[in-house]
Amino acid sequence: MDIIDALMIADDLKDVHKLFKHIKHKKNMKVLVATEKPFAKVAVDGIKKVVEENGHQFALLEKYTDVNDFYAAVADADALIVRSDKVTKEVIDHAKNLKIVVRAGAGYDNLDLEACTARGIVAMNTPGQNSNAVAELVMGMLVYAVRNFYNGKSGSELMGKKLGILAFGNVGRNVARIAKGFGMDVYAYDAFMTAEQINSSAMAKAVASQEALFETCDIVSLHIPATAETKQSINYDLVGKMHKGGILVNSARKEVIDEAGLLKLMAERTDLKYITDIMPDADADFRAFEGRYFATPKKMGAQTEEANINAGIAAANQIADFFKTGNKKFQVNK
Ligand code: 3PG
Repeated sequence: MDIIDALMIADDLKDVHKLFKHIKHKKNMKVLVATEKPFAKVAVDGIKKVVEENGHQFALLEKYTDVNDFYAAVADADALIVRSDKVTKEVIDHAKNLKIVVRAGAGYDNLDLEACTARGIVAMNTPGQNSNAVAELVMGMLVYAVRNFYNGKSGSELMGKKLGILAFGNVGRNVARIAKGFGMDVYAYDAFMTAEQINSSAMAKAVASQEALFETCDIVSLHIPATAETKQSINYDLVGKMHKGGILVNSARKEVIDEAGLLKLMAERTDLKYITDIMPDADADFRAFEGRYFATPKKMGAQTEEANINAGIAAANQIADFFKTGNKKFQVNK
C-alpha cells in the first residue's frame, strides 16, 4: 500500500498522524561503533561512509578495556553497532537516547534483549554476513588438528572422513560446502529443520538426532547458538558417543560446552581431540591434553576484512534504513 492509498482509508487525523510518524525520516542521529575487538580499518571506513552519507554522525570506541568508557561513549548515542561486546542492562541504562542496537554478526546472546525491549530499543543482528569466514576457519583448524598441529609427525587426511554439522544454518551450510570440496562425507542435524530440508540442500545427509550425529561421525562441528536449551548441552554422554579418534570442533560459543564433563571425558578417552575458536573458562585445565587440544587466543572466526566489511556495513545500512523508513527486518526482540 502506498501513502496515497493509506491516506484514502485513514479515518481521522489521528490515523494520518500515525502514518506520518512511521515514515518520518530521522536525521543527524549519532551512530556509535563500540568494538572491544576492532573491525579492520577498511570496514570502519565503510561504516563511517554509510553513516555520514545518510546524514548521521559517526562515533568510534575501539579496544576499550574499561566498561566505563563504553558507558560514557554510549551516553548520547542514538544507534549502536557492536560485535561480541556485552550490551547489558547497565549499558542500556547509560544509553538514554538509544533507539537501535545492531550486533554486527550472527549470535546475539551478548545483547540483553529484555532490557532493550523494556526501553523500546530495536535489537538486530546481521545474519549470514560473516558465515563464510567462520566456516573457512573451521576447516583450517581441522587441517591443523589432523596434521598433529604441524609437529612434523605423520597425520591424517580429511578426505573420506565423516563430518557432522550440528545446526545447519548459515555457518553450518558454508562448512558443508567447503567440506564437500575436501571430499568429506557430510552429515547434519538441526532441531529446527526437517530431514527433507537438510537432504534437499544436497550438501549434507540428515541424521535423526544429535546423538546419532555424534555416533555416526569422525568429526563434529558445532554451529548452535547459546540459548537456555543449548547451554552445556555438549556434555560427557554426548561427546562420549564418538568413536575412536573423534574430533570436536567449536566455533559457536563456549557456553554450549559442559566443560567439566568434557574435561572428564578427555582424561578418560585419550583418543579424543577438542579444537575451539572460543577459549574455554577451563583453558588451563584443557592445556594438560597436549596434542589433543587447541584454542585460538581470541575468537578469530569472523576476524577477516571481508567479514568485517560485510557485517559492519550491513549493520550501518540496517540502521540508516531504520531511521529512514522504520524497516525492522532483522529485529530479534520482536
Ligand atoms: C558471530 O556470532 O557472528 C560470531 O561469533 C562472530 O563474533 P565476533 O564479531 O565477536 O568476532
